[in-house]
Amino acid sequence: MRKDVRILLVGEPKVGKTSLIMSLVSEEFPQVVPYRAEEITIPADVTPERVPTHIVDYSEAEQTDEQLSSEISKANVICIVYAVNNKKSIEKVTSHWIPLINDNTAKDSRVPVILVGNKSDLVEHSSMETILPVMNQYTEIETCVECSAKNLKNISELFYYAQKAVLHPTGPLYCPEEKR
Ligand code: GTP
Ligand code: MG
Repeated sequence: MRKDVRILLVGEPKVGKTSLIMSLVSEEFPQVVPYRAEEITIPADVTPERVPTHIVDYSEAEQTDEQLSSEISKANVICIVYAVNNKKSIEKVTSHWIPLINDNTAKDSRVPVILVGNKSDLVEHSSMETILPVMNQYTEIETCVECSAKNLKNISELFYYAQKAVLHPTGPLYCPEEKR
């Protein structure tokens, strides 16, 4: 059995990565956040799957590309966060983040990815229409979720999905057609 789960959050600046982590930990929306949250470890007995879980933040303002590459290669699951009210942050999911993750993970290992649409409190309209074609195009995307760090919507679900993606993956462990 796996001994722990390492969850990494990436995405464009200001989409709310740090706020999501702080909201999960304190169960309230933090008015002020640092660029990067300290790595936190959630003990096994308070996680849904009973496995110690590390949550790792990323911030372009505080980390180099090398540090980011290293964190990507250490992660068991990666949450690509975008803001539902920021089209650019959605476009960057496919133009930047998925290729970067592929470049930094072994071709024969499938690191599950979760697409996280934050700031759902700011829009009426869901981003799912835009996101579903992306989901269908990339087999590494395990699931997607819209949430809000501000009104705490779907926050614990998000981290549960991430844990579950590692412990009970639904996709193939590797893609045969890529194993040439
Ligand atoms: P970097 O560290 O710069 O990469 O940004 P980040 O992705 O960690 O974003 P951060 O958590 O610093 O949040 C950026 C801004 O968005 C802050 O002003 C937050 O208060 C705000 N914010 C974060 N989550 C939400 C949300 O769910 N709803 C709303 N309305 N605002 C949010
Ligand atoms: Mg941050």
